[in-house]
Amino acid sequence: MKIFSGSSNKPLAEKIATLLKKRLGRVEINIFADGEKRIRVTDKIVGKDCAVLQSTSTDVDKNYMELFFIADAFKRNGARAITAVIPYLGYQRQDHMFRVGEAVSLDVIVKMLEGVGIDKIVAVDLHSIKIPELFHIGFVHLSALPIFAEKIKEIISAKVAYDPAKRDIGSPRFHNSVLVSPDMGGIRRIKILSKMLGNMPYAAVVKNRDVKTGKITVSNIEGELKKNAIIVDDMISTGRTIVLASELLRRKGVEEIFVFATHPVFSQDCPKALQQAFIEKVFVTDTIEVSKEKQFPKLEVLSVAEIIGEALKLT
Ligand code: R5P
Repeated sequence: MKIFSGSSNKPLAEKIATLLKKRLGRVEINIFADGEKRIRVTDKIVGKDCAVLQSTSTDVDKNYMELFFIADAFKRNGARAITAVIPYLGYQRQDHMFRVGEAVSLDVIVKMLEGVGIDKIVAVDLHSIKIPELFHIGFVHLSALPIFAEKIKEIISAKVAYDPAKRDIGSPRFHNSVLVSPDMGGIRRIKILSKMLGNMPYAAVVKNRDVKTGKITVSNIEGELKKNAIIVDDMISTGRTIVLASELLRRKGVEEIFVFATHPVFSQDCPKALQQAFIEKVFVTDTIEVSKEKQFPKLEVLSVAEIIGEALKLT
């Protein structure tokens, strides 16, 4: 298989290629003065299986168009099969009509991806497990949860430094930690993670989103809290969900909060809000490249390169 990259997340594509002991294929991407792109694959691909990695994060429409053109170039130049590795699948949250009169954006995206001749999609931590069912082509749905489980094991078994204010005498955090979903929709994810962590207890924030304005409010917690909370979500966009959840947890007496989210969408001033929030550390993955301007001291990026690389070996 030959591996190519669009321009949205080249570092991840390079990491995967290195793990698979391959070099990235050559694609020329020229941008005209009006913003239109001309794509040209310069490697020989006749009869070859081709994979292209493109995260359809911000700027979502540009990144999708680039992916469609690369797939078209593969098709027209004789590729045998096309795999699109889309670590973050843009428009996945609009997977149905929330209100009468709305478009189902994801359905349009499905038609486009299939229409340009892609045979298989590889994606990570989709917002809903039903999304692969909307496709009529192969779909590999990967998860970063095993990566998070390893990191959480490290955190909860680490000795907490002596802190007279917290009266902590250097005991591991294990018995004092609970997994928290920042909304009821994330409970399935939390249950899977809880199993991976030997049935670690979990709780959920009761969150409401106004479908018209998008405004979020949090009202309560379902489940029992402990001294340390580990919030797990699929993505962080504006950061409102995480900030409101951490404020609520703090009001309920939680002393230490760690955050794990697969996709660092990081819109608006999200990095600043997370840095200032009552949170020890924010762990995300490299499904979306976090630009220098969006990095902040509390952030740690874990890599999904290995799980994607392993999946491609089987493709
Ligand atoms: C919502 O259902 C998702 O799982 C995330 O919680 C949400 O998309 C995060 O968005 P924001 O960071 O803007 O609150």
